[in-house]
This record gives sequence, C-alpha cells and structure tokens, in this order.
Amino acid sequence: MLKLNKVYCGNCKELLKEIDRETIDLVITSPPYDNLKKYEGYSFDFEIIAQELYRVIKQHGVVVWIVGDAVIDGSETGTSFKQALYFKEIGFNIHDTMIYEKNSSTFPARRDGNRYTQIFEYCFVFCKPDKIISKYPILSPKLKIEDASWLAAAIDGEGCFRIRKHGKNGSCYSNINLGNMNKEYVKKAFDITGLGNFWYDKNRNFYEWNVGSEDASKIVLEIYPYLLIKKEQAKTLINFQEYLRKENDKGGRNKVLSKKDKEKRLNFFDIMKQLNDGSIRESGFGEIDTTVRSKGKPKTANLLCDKPNKWAGVTSYDKKIPPVPDFSPRTNIWWYVTSFEDKNDHPAIFPEKLAWDHILSWSDKGDIVLDPMCGSGTTLKAAKELGRHFIGMDVSERYCGMSRKRISNINPCVDPDFV
Ligand SMILES: C[S@@+](CC[C@H](N)C(=O)[O-])C[C@H]1O[C@@H](n2cnc3c(N)ncnc32)[C@H](O)[C@@H]1O
Repeated sequence: MLKLNKVYCGNCKELLKEIDRETIDLVITSPPYDNLKKYEGYSFDFEIIAQELYRVIKQHGVVVWIVGDAVIDGSETGTSFKQALYFKEIGFNIHDTMIYEKNSSTFPARRDGNRYTQIFEYCFVFCKPDKIISKYPILSPKLKIEDASWLAAAIDGEGCFRIRKHGKNGSCYSNINLGNMNKEYVKKAFDITGLGNFWYDKNRNFYEWNVGSEDASKIVLEIYPYLLIKKEQAKTLINFQEYLRKENDKGGRNKVLSKKDKEKRLNFFDIMKQLNDGSIRESGFGEIDTTVRSKGKPKTANLLCDKPNKWAGVTSYDKKIPPVPDFSPRTNIWWYVTSFEDKNDHPAIFPEKLAWDHILSWSDKGDIVLDPMCGSGTTLKAAKELGRHFIGMDVSERYCGMSRKRISNINPCVDPDFV
C-alpha cells in the first residue's frame, strides 16, 4: 500500500495497483481530456484507470471526475459523456452531474462567431454502491475485476463465442472456447473461472478451454463490461441462454422442438455465425445491464448550505412550521472566480475553492483523498488544509515537484466550521 500524504511520480495506471482494494474515501481529479492541453508527455489509458479507481474506492466512496470536451472538426467530442457512461458500466452510480462554471474564459465568443463562450466543466460525481450483484450471481464473489478484464481481453483476442447445432432437430447449445499453444495462458482462464474443461490436444499441440451453456452465460455476464471486440457475440449468447431459460428447456439436446422453437434457435445460430464470420456487425440485441445495484448513497454528503433563502425566518401564523432557515443547500451548478491566486506554472489547474467544496461535501476529517492526476497539487493542498489524508500522483516529475512544494508549508485549517 502506498504511504499516505505523499506525491508519487509515475503513470497512475501503474501506481494505482499499489493501493489496497477499497481503501480510498474520495477521489477528486481532472484528467487530461481530448489532448486539449500539452502536458509533459503522458499516455492516458482511460478504461484501465477507471477500473482501478473502482477497485481502490471504498463502498459508498465518491469519485469526482472533472472534465470537459474539445471541439474537433466542428463537433464536441462527447468524451466526457462516454467516460461517465463507462464509469456506470463498470459499477459506479452516476450520483450527480454537476457544473463548475468559471467567471471568465480564455476564448470568449466573437460577435461573428457561431458558438457561445465555453465557460464550464462537468464535475461527474460517481458513487460506488456497496453491492454490485450479477443478475445471475455465480462468479461475482470469485472473479476479481482484474481477472474479469484479463479474461475479456483473452476472449476478445483469441477466444470464440459459439452457438452450435446439435443433431438435426434444431436444438442448439452455446459455448465459449479459448485455444492457444501457451499452456499457462489457456489454463489461467480455466483457473480463474473454475468452470468448463481444460485439455491438451496432442495432434494439434494446442491447449483448449471450453465452457458451455449456462456456465458460458455466467461467465459472459461477468466479463461483459470489459469486452471490446466481441460484445455483439456476447449479447447473442446471453440472449440465447435467456431464451432457453424462459422456455424452461428441460428436455435438453434431444427434446422434440416445435417448428417455432426450432426457427428461434436457428436464428440465434445464424446471428452468431454471421457475427463470427464478419458478415454482420450488429446482433440487433440492445445493451445488457449485467448488474443489479444497491442505492449506493455516498457515505458522506455534507451538503453546503450557502444559498440565501428569500423567505428566511418566515413561519406559519400559528408557528407550527419552523421558520425557513437563512440558507439552503446550493444548486449543483457551482461558480468560481478563477483567480490570480490560483494561477501557477501548470497549464490546467482548477480553483482551490472547487477542491475545498468537493472535499467538504463528500468526505470527513481523517478520510483519505486521492488525486491520481494531481498536476500542481490543488486537491492535495485542499485535503491537507481540511485535515484529510491525501495521496497524489502525476506522470510529470516537474508537476510532482510543484505539488510537493505547494503542500510543504500547509497546516490543517482549524476552523471547526469548515472541517
Ligand atoms: C488537468 S491536469 C490536472 C491539474 C490539477 N487538477 C491542478 O489543479 O493542478 C491533468 C494532469 O494529469 C497528468 N497526467 C496525464 N496522464 C497521466 C497518467 N497516466 N498518470 C498520471 N498523471 C497523468 C498530467 O501531467 C497533468 O498534470
């Protein structure tokens, strides 16, 4: 486990692996987006970083992802939304989509332009629910997130989803197959799932892992979010198995099928075959939500109440209703002066007050706050000021130096109203 209250230099994709599972209370970070800014050279592997954040955050912990979109070839990229939906796909709840509005813009709109001044960034607030249960809960407790993503990549690369015909009566069954000359590679699939068969084919000098029907479906439901290339095949297999389940297909392979049943099964067979040989690209099945979520409320939600109430002090004439308080929780659009004090040598800092407000909202004193792409250390400084522990990471040695310097003389703030 990485030590607390330190800044680590390196790619967060690697550094995050050194943080224990479910140990972080809050992540606040602003990733590089759409290559809009030139930092000191980085590679940004979004999906792996998102999965690692899911692993390290505590149940009911929060990730604040501060991001915007570039305009490329006349269109906003939509990267921010794609990322938000990916966070949801891997298990987070999208707790809130907040706006951080700036007081000024580097590129104000021109009167003869065609776009209004871009003045905000999104703050996506993701919360990890306590339970992500597979709708068909079989492997969930066993298959670790890194194993699930490894297996998905292995099947995407060298595996195959199949629906096979059995005999002439139209009965079909599904399976997953992974074959390779490398024994360890194929055996790993068998070991991490504990399902199917593993064997060596002497004639072909080939190792194979094969898992069929219901077990294949269980595995697909587990790895579905991580598949990139064979998602359509996965959907076909899941839908096929679900169809059989609904049909209560107890007769097995030798059941005598009605004409309609036979056609339905052969339709699944055809779709899979065509997906596998590349003659169609889409199965026609919609996205599959493989999880059932708990409500996933943040463990801490200290809503900042600084919106003055127009009717402050007003009560009912018989005073049965308590007076309207002076202040209410603010809205989810936050406005900041991106002030001179916030400026430093880093090209893309966010305001210290923004980091303060998120830390106050989603964490308690003594909690651990992580910024895996900490730049000049704004999150870390705010965390230290507010009596939280922090871990910072940045790929640039220079920015890490900046962060370390920035937090070196900070003392926790002692105002009890704030911490
Ligand atoms: C938008 S800036 C963060 C600025 C920060 N919030 C601040 O206020 O100073 C993004 C940072 O991510 C860093 N970065 C990019 N890819 C990274 C990676 N794979 N691992 C760690 N840091 C990375 C960049 O060096 C850059 O400093």
